[in-house]
Amino acid sequence: MYLLGIETSCDETAAAVVESGEKVLSNVVASQFDVHGRYGGVVPELASREHLRAIVPVVRQAVDDAGIGYGDLSAVAVTRGPGLVGSLLVGLCYAKALSVSQGVPLIGVNHIEGHIHAVVLEQKQKGQPIEFPAVALVASGGHTHLFHVRLTADGSYEYRLLGRTRDDAAGEAFDKVAKLLGLGYPGGPVIDRLASHGDPESVRFGLARMKGNELDFSFSGLKTAVLRWVRAADMDDEIERRRALLRSTPRPTVEQWLEVTPQRTLDLIASFQQAVTEGLLHRGRRAAEQQPDVRSLVVSGGVACNSRLRERFASEVPSYLVSFPSPRLSTDNAVMIAAAAWPKFARGRFSDLALAADASLSL
Ligand code: KG4
Ligand code: ZN
Repeated sequence: MYLLGIETSCDETAAAVVESGEKVLSNVVASQFDVHGRYGGVVPELASREHLRAIVPVVRQAVDDAGIGYGDLSAVAVTRGPGLVGSLLVGLCYAKALSVSQGVPLIGVNHIEGHIHAVVLEQKQKGQPIEFPAVALVASGGHTHLFHVRLTADGSYEYRLLGRTRDDAAGEAFDKVAKLLGLGYPGGPVIDRLASHGDPESVRFGLARMKGNELDFSFSGLKTAVLRWVRAADMDDEIERRRALLRSTPRPTVEQWLEVTPQRTLDLIASFQQAVTEGLLHRGRRAAEQQPDVRSLVVSGGVACNSRLRERFASEVPSYLVSFPSPRLSTDNAVMIAAAAWPKFARGRFSDLALAADASLSL
């Protein structure tokens, strides 16, 4: 059984073929980094146009890389939300057309469910399947959610929301702070690399405690605290030097960044990253402790690439309990969409052609 996954919810056009919910035959991701980088964030209109340009060759490559033909596909799985509506529509329209032309079922998938299934798939491959019920922490550019995940007797998954961000997502905080400091877009990877050169204890940032639900997150106060720190430290000249570096070199090396970033700024970056990772660690661990039946903790989404976050979980949570996806399957990809569609395929839960994009789809 060959499932084709298609993912176009944000700024990556992705397609993948996964055999029987487990074996990854291809994984193609066309990033729009070069289009959005100069704007310091994703421009929705440009994203839709880039998806239009990329969708046909990306799917063709995924099918070719898998060593099969379109006629061998058993179903087409596609992200239907949440995300940018114009971007979602490109993947959805293409998936519907392919499903009709090949006479195979269409399966709509929630992007957040996809992030969780990236880990489910990889742990199956390693012969260490996730034990359910689990707590899943999904932290990306668009979402920061904690779920209780249950596997039911008929093989379907049930999700119960335990906590979520009330304002910015964790990845968004990385991106906004990077933009503020002249570090370009996306912010997570560059902050991750520079933070290891700074002292995470130098500035004491914390995450606000949420009234009502202690498992909710808020990152906007942290972003404002960094902004205040930057203003007080009068950093305009060094920020301008970093912006100039980005204009001349779209992908600077760490050494090039270090030349234009003084130690006190590296300390600030490390302290900011520390506050985000501590907030994610504490709430993730707390969520697992609060649910007596929970047997594992799954961390996924683009922010799961963060090396400090991985280190903190590794030192604070027993390794048999916690699972991260490989970095390639942490950020947006279509393997995770095909993986999340597999249990639906197995039970005949197909979508019809009226399937609509839903920018704020919840899980
Ligand atoms: O999952 P993803 O590819 O897309 C969304 O669903 O949003 O996540 C992208 C986000 C961006 O905000 C990016 O800055 C962040 O993940 N990210 C990281 C790292 N790599 C990517 N954040 C922290 N550390 C990283 N190494
Ligand atoms: Zn994502």
